[in-house]
Amino acid sequence: MYKKMVLRARAKINLGLTVLGRRQDGYHDLVSVMQEVSLCDTLVIEPDAGSGWRFNCSAEELGGPENLVSRAASALELIAGRALPAARITLYKNIPVESGLGGGSSDAAAALKGLNRFWGLGIPDRELSEIGATLGSDVPFCLRGGTALAEGRGEKVTSLPALPFHWVVLLLPAAIRCSTSEIYSALKREQFGKPSLDHLLQAVKNGDMAALKRWMARGDTNTLEQAVLPRAKAVAALKHNLQILNLNPALSGSGSALFFLSDSYWLARNAAFALQAEGNRAYLCWTVTGAKECLHD
Ligand code: C5P
Repeated sequence: MYKKMVLRARAKINLGLTVLGRRQDGYHDLVSVMQEVSLCDTLVIEPDAGSGWRFNCSAEELGGPENLVSRAASALELIAGRALPAARITLYKNIPVESGLGGGSSDAAAALKGLNRFWGLGIPDRELSEIGATLGSDVPFCLRGGTALAEGRGEKVTSLPALPFHWVVLLLPAAIRCSTSEIYSALKREQFGKPSLDHLLQAVKNGDMAALKRWMARGDTNTLEQAVLPRAKAVAALKHNLQILNLNPALSGSGSALFFLSDSYWLARNAAFALQAEGNRAYLCWTVTGAKECLHD
């Protein structure tokens, strides 16, 4: 009954992100169009001897109780309120950490979905999303995937029509990590509310790729860039270079990852190789629609 499961935990990008203002609870209200991409971590859940669950991560420093996978398992254990079949949970990291690509949130979402099934808890999607929101603002989106509008602090998610297939190049200048809370708190009041996402939303709803291209070309698709670029000069320089090449780069989340979309495999691949040769980390991936499935169970 309790069979081994192998799950993909995919990264996300923010096609647009507007911070609306600071809240009483220390978070910020935002609106964002989010997109699942193919770059992924892998989560393995398998039966174990004895009792309880144990968690290991391929990146040893991420293997503790603070990892969102551990926190997801603890949350489900608490809700179940009974002894659960022993489980060994292993996370194989691939998505760069603290990069604005939602890796930790996606790991948590995969753990919630996978353990809910592995343990036969039968928790409905809506409740799983509420549990996810207590772990991180992006977890509800990661549970849903595809293309979606996120509101509130990011936890209110509405699916949008799937974006037509695009290649996506993710780029990180070497060894820069951005702390999400530091970036949010560095924002100034006058920076809130910009840009308006109206044009982006219309483009996505209408499947109008020419309008999406115009949106990406505007160069200021994410309020958080205003806090990230002055603090991370290598990200600012890389963005500038990509703009000169007309690749229409944008920051994902609170950075430091930049991304650009392309219809052309060869353009995306050659750009990724050239940027790697210059010492950046570059990942060639693609947009993914919402259906999440197990690789093996
Ligand atoms: O929700 P999550 O744990 O990912 O957020 C990390 C930090 O980012 C929060 O503690 C908060 O400082 C900041 N944040 C915010 N507003 C949001 C999301 C995150 O201020 N909407």
